[in-house]
Order: sequence, then structure tokens, then C-alpha cells
Amino acid sequence: MPSVRLTPTTMLYSGRSQDGSHILKSARYLHKELPVRIAHRIKGFRSLPFIIGCNPTILHVHELYIRAFQKLSDFPAITDHEVESQYCKLLRQLLDDHKDVVTQLAEGLRESRKHIQDEKVIRYFLDKTLTSRLGIRMLATHHLSLHEDRPDFVGIICTRLSPKKIIEKWVDFARRLCEHKYGNAPRVRINGHVAARFPFIPMPLDYILPELLKNSMRATMESHIETPYNVPDISITIANNDIDLIIRISDRGGGIPHDHLERVMDYHFTTAETSTQDPRINPIFGNMVDMVNSGQSGPMHGFGFGLPTSRAYAEYLGGSLCIQSLQGIGADVYLRLKHIDGKEESFRI
Ligand SMILES: Nc1ncnc2c1ncn2[C@@H]1O[C@H](COP(=O)(O)OP(=O)(O)OP(=O)(O)O)[C@@H](O)[C@H]1O
Ligand SMILES: [Mg+2]
Repeated sequence: MPSVRLTPTTMLYSGRSQDGSHILKSARYLHKELPVRIAHRIKGFRSLPFIIGCNPTILHVHELYIRAFQKLSDFPAITDHEVESQYCKLLRQLLDDHKDVVTQLAEGLRESRKHIQDEKVIRYFLDKTLTSRLGIRMLATHHLSLHEDRPDFVGIICTRLSPKKIIEKWVDFARRLCEHKYGNAPRVRINGHVAARFPFIPMPLDYILPELLKNSMRATMESHIETPYNVPDISITIANNDIDLIIRISDRGGGIPHDHLERVMDYHFTTAETSTQDPRINPIFGNMVDMVNSGQSGPMHGFGFGLPTSRAYAEYLGGSLCIQSLQGIGADVYLRLKHIDGKEESFRI
């Protein structure tokens, strides 16, 4: 069966009612939709090359999906609020069971993909699996959050999101990680449309911003290894218009070398090993990315997943992620995300 994707506007306007009937409606939609989406993912696992499908970690994730499919499709029809709250319990449990899937896939594919000639197979599988997972988690979290009464929120949609505020939140997070590893962190200046507020879904930004900031901070620190207490600022520009939101992150971390540029968007491409081998980078602090374990953006231990995953998420939501490298100076990363109430036709989740 084909999947039925929703526009954020539909989610927003069906997110409220006097008698609570919107909650039942939303649960019934998920009850029908989630098994369909998960079935497509299982099909994805089944069409992986045999040698990859046999990897124990991949097999484990494959089984997680099969179990989720069984639980969701066995769930009885949602007739009243009593059944609905049981359904929420199941959703919460499944969200938790699947929280480490990205790391597990990264780990499972890291070794086994070496046996595969065609890179495109892996990219297609990961782009599909990761973006579909994002969509499912957004829908499930949206439903669960409909029960909460948070000011300025309808489910996962913030009705007046400030890009500056959310950037600042992730700057603080990334600076703390960076200080922990390098003893200092670059300052970040935010300019452009700093006062803008509009309806938006913060969740994709919560995944993408920490990844981009960690990359820029790491590049800045490692290209100024002799002067860690005097490093150039990172500059972030916010541009808002009636079609999309653009966030440009400019660092002075030396840029991405010409011969890496083609590959930085590849899953598993990383230069993390080279910096762990550098004796000038304090090894007792551990890997900067290891720390993300405790953060919200999911554990990714320098797998080389930050950029490709962020780009896949941005494109899934009708946006894009591009890098301009000024080799010898730094990198500019452009993140574009479509407005949910923009002039153009909206993306679907
Ligand atoms: N702003 C930047 N300046 C210089 N190099 C960068 C920048 N951003 C990314 N890179 C290079 O691109 C590589 C891939 O980045 P990516 O975020 O995908 O993976 P990672 O940071 O190595 O690991 P992970 O993000 O999974 O923890 C990095 O290892 C680094 O070499
Ligand atoms: Mg990264």
C-alpha cells in the first residue's frame, strides 16, 4: 500500500478540537499509516545485498522493524480514549526501542559495506531508511504531544518559532562539547533576521544544527591547534522570506580540502581518525562526538554521518544543504528549509 503523507498545515489544523475528537482522529490515522510505512522499511532491509543483511547489527535492526510491524498491525481498532491511551503507550515504547537505530545502522554498515561494489545501494538504503524514520518519529511525537498543553505549540509544530533562539540553544550545546574536548570553543555571532518568528517544526533543526555546529567548531579548533585560546568566531546568518528559511554557517576552520569535497556527503566519510591520532589534541577528553551520546541529537561517534544525514533530512522536508569551501580559509554551509505556511506548495511528512 502507498504511504499517505501529511502536510504540516493539515497537522496544524487537525491538531485542535473542543471535544478531543482530534486525538482519536490522529490516532486512527497513525493506526492505519504506521504499519504501511514500516512494511516499506522491511522491504528495504530485504532488498539489501545478502552479505549486508547477514550482519548481526543490521539483522537486529531489521528484527526491530518486524516486531514494530507486528505490534502496530495487531493493535485493535481505536474506538475510544481508553484504547487510545494504550496506543500512546505502545508508541512511546517503540520510539524508545528504536532510538539507537541510526548508530546501529552506521555500525552495522561500516564493515559490511566494504563487500559491496555499488556505493549507490548503501546511499539509497540509508537516505530512505533515515528520512522515513524521521517522518515516522515526527508523526508519532506529534500525536503524543497533542496531549500536552504547551504554549505556542500544537503537537510538534511551534506557532512562533524564533530561529535565533533555537540556534543559540544548539550553539551552547556544541560549545560545551567543544570546550570539553579542546579546552576552548569559538564564539558564535548571529546576524540577519534575528527577530524573525513564524510557525515551524523545530524537530529537524534539532537534528541538523548540532551536527553543523560541531563540524564548524571542530574545524576551527583543529586548524588553530597552536593558538586554542585565540580562534576566529563562527558567523551565522539567518535569512527569512515567504518561501523558506536559510541558515548560513560560516567558519574559518580552513575549509574542506579539494580532494575531500566530493566525499564529505558520503555516509561513513570522516576524518575523525586523523584527529584522534594527533597528539596535540588531548586524548583524555575523548572524542567530541562521543559526548553527543548524552545529548539530544542522537549518538554518532564520528561515523561520518553528520553531513549526509542532515542533507537527507533537509531534502526530505523540501529543503537543501550545500557547502562552499574556501580552501585555506573556511567553509560556508547553507541550510534551506521550506516554510510550513509558505507561498509554494508545502512538503509532506
Ligand atoms: N565546517 C567544516 N570545515 C572543514 N571540514 C569539515 C567541515 N564540516 C565537515 N567537514 C569534514 O567533513 C567530514 C564529514 O563530516 P560529517 O559531519 O559527515 O562526519 P564527522 O563529523 O566526521 O562525524 P559525525 O558527524 O558522524 O560525528 C568531517 O570528518 C570533516 O573532515
Ligand atoms: Mg560531523
